[in-house]
Amino acid sequence: MSTLPKDNTGKVTVTSLLKHKEAGEKFSMLTAYDASFAAVADQAGVDIVLVGDSLGMVVQGHDSTVPVKVDDILYHTRCVSTVCRRAMVMADMPFMSFRDVPLALENATRFMQDGGAQAVKLEGGGHVLPVVEALAKYGIPVCAHLGLQPQYVNKLGGYRVQGRDKATAKRMLHEARTMQDSGADMLLLECVPVELANEITQSLIIPTIGIGAGAGCDAQVLVLYDLLGISFGKIPKFARNFLAEAGSIQAAIEAYVKAVKAGDFPAAEHTFN
Ligand code: KIV
Repeated sequence: MSTLPKDNTGKVTVTSLLKHKEAGEKFSMLTAYDASFAAVADQAGVDIVLVGDSLGMVVQGHDSTVPVKVDDILYHTRCVSTVCRRAMVMADMPFMSFRDVPLALENATRFMQDGGAQAVKLEGGGHVLPVVEALAKYGIPVCAHLGLQPQYVNKLGGYRVQGRDKATAKRMLHEARTMQDSGADMLLLECVPVELANEITQSLIIPTIGIGAGAGCDAQVLVLYDLLGISFGKIPKFARNFLAEAGSIQAAIEAYVKAVKAGDFPAAEHTFN
């Protein structure tokens, strides 16, 4: 595949995503970790390409995202940003890479300057608010991440739906609002009951991006390998194999983008109550 020219004209931005929310138009995010898949995703109309720390599992073969290092995300972000002409490139801040404000600023700066990212994502609740605020203050678009936070797997003892009990749901709604107030530009909700995800989405100005959080979110995200049906181990309830009914990888990603825009994905079978 030939290298695509770098051209920022027409690039997806936090402002254009906000306009989508205001207009009630859904948008899509997909993970990619290398240039070839990122270029296909970009050409298929994916709005945000996430260089997720899920690479620790799907690329590196670990059983969690905890072993992923800053240098891993940096390397893969560079691979992806080199070819994304339209899609926003978002770098996932790995385990312990944002444990205090100076470290978070340093690592996010590397992802933006050396990796070519236009935004970063970070997991965590109230305790990461000072980090979100500092990043926003210095001009770094932030996607907060609530609900299931895979970097906490060793504390959680597994991957489970979050926010089913009233106290946790109330806390999550409060955290979502304070993330927005602290300067977050987007909020990812992972494995959250549909009703709670809808309430959070409706109470925020910034867009929500769901994975296992229902079609009421403003956008959806999938791990590329789940979309292609090549995940090993247990297939998550929220995943759908779009390749099964498509003739090519590009057609599968296009079908995903179309289904998200139309509100046809996720269906009830991909969600939690
Ligand atoms: O790392 C990742 O791929 C993620 C997804 C769950 C969206 O954070």
